[in-house]
Amino acid sequence: MTGKIVLITGGTGGIGKAAAIGLASMGARVGITGRDRTRAERAAKDIEAESDNPAVDVFVADLSSQDEVRRMAGEVLSAYPRLDVLVNNVGGFWAHRHVTSDGLEHTFALNHLAPFLLTSLLLERLVASAPARVVTVASGAQSMGKIDFGDLMGEQDYSGQRAYNQSKLANVMFTYELARRVEATGVTATALHPGMTNTAFSAEDPARAMAPVVFVARPFMRSAKKGAETVVYLASSSAVEGVTGNYFANRKAKKSNQSSYDREVTARLWQVSSHLVGVPDAR
Ligand SMILES: NC(=O)c1ccc[n+]([C@@H]2O[C@H](COP(=O)([O-])OP(=O)(O)OC[C@H]3O[C@@H](n4cnc5c(N)ncnc54)[C@H](OP(=O)(O)O)[C@@H]3O)[C@@H](O)[C@H]2O)c1
Repeated sequence: MTGKIVLITGGTGGIGKAAAIGLASMGARVGITGRDRTRAERAAKDIEAESDNPAVDVFVADLSSQDEVRRMAGEVLSAYPRLDVLVNNVGGFWAHRHVTSDGLEHTFALNHLAPFLLTSLLLERLVASAPARVVTVASGAQSMGKIDFGDLMGEQDYSGQRAYNQSKLANVMFTYELARRVEATGVTATALHPGMTNTAFSAEDPARAMAPVVFVARPFMRSAKKGAETVVYLASSSAVEGVTGNYFANRKAKKSNQSSYDREVTARLWQVSSHLVGVPDAR
């Protein structure tokens, strides 16, 4: 990965930080993102020390806000003349419905619309740097997901699990549709399930609804390093050079939710998402 530039959203902890250590250890320049500068700079120092690579940069933004995604994308474009890999990793779970500063349901906005918008804003740079890769951290929860176009934001009926499942299925559909749209540009798009991983995931949900599940499951969860393995693989391995439009778990291509293969649904989700983030539905 020497000479390559990788941007990982949510590199301050959990799977993102472990992936940053893995990719920096291979020689990549790695940009991590987080909401708090002090926390992000502390994480960058850890990543530099653990990877023995000083080329770690910090970008600060709350990605639940589209203005912040736009500002951060501008900073990334100014800082990086090329971008070889974008890892869309940030995601969260909320048991109760919350809205973002844009008035959108938090899970859908952060888990799906933020990577959708960030990728759109960085796509030209990725294409210009091709071969380049967009790797999106989805979840096995995608298999239980359903895109409810009649109530995407859970205004009529909200369940945290349903919103999470939907957002993770949206990650997979986004990946498949992106792969089709950038076909022949040299940019590939893959999604993955990291496995049940021992991180701070869902800890900031005020309801702490997942806490009992996490408490019981923690002894069986994998380490963040192990959870990041498929991310690192998809971001760097020559074995997946040119591989696009696939969903992976444990470094193997897996079948995803049947509905993710429905091109009408993925195209419709793309169109609705473009409208919600205010980017043209081009390409
Ligand atoms: N852990 C699991 O078992 C598991 C299983 C399947 C899928 N996943 C997926 O894996 C991904 C990473 O999860 P994780 O377990 O590593 O979670 P985590 O430990 O909670 O880490 C989340 C990262 O995202 C950042 N973040 C959170 N909210 C943000 C926001 N509004 N704006 C910007 N950054 C934000 C955090 O940074 P700051 O707090 O510093 O801002 C942190 O770096 C998620 O997409 C999750 O859905 C996880």
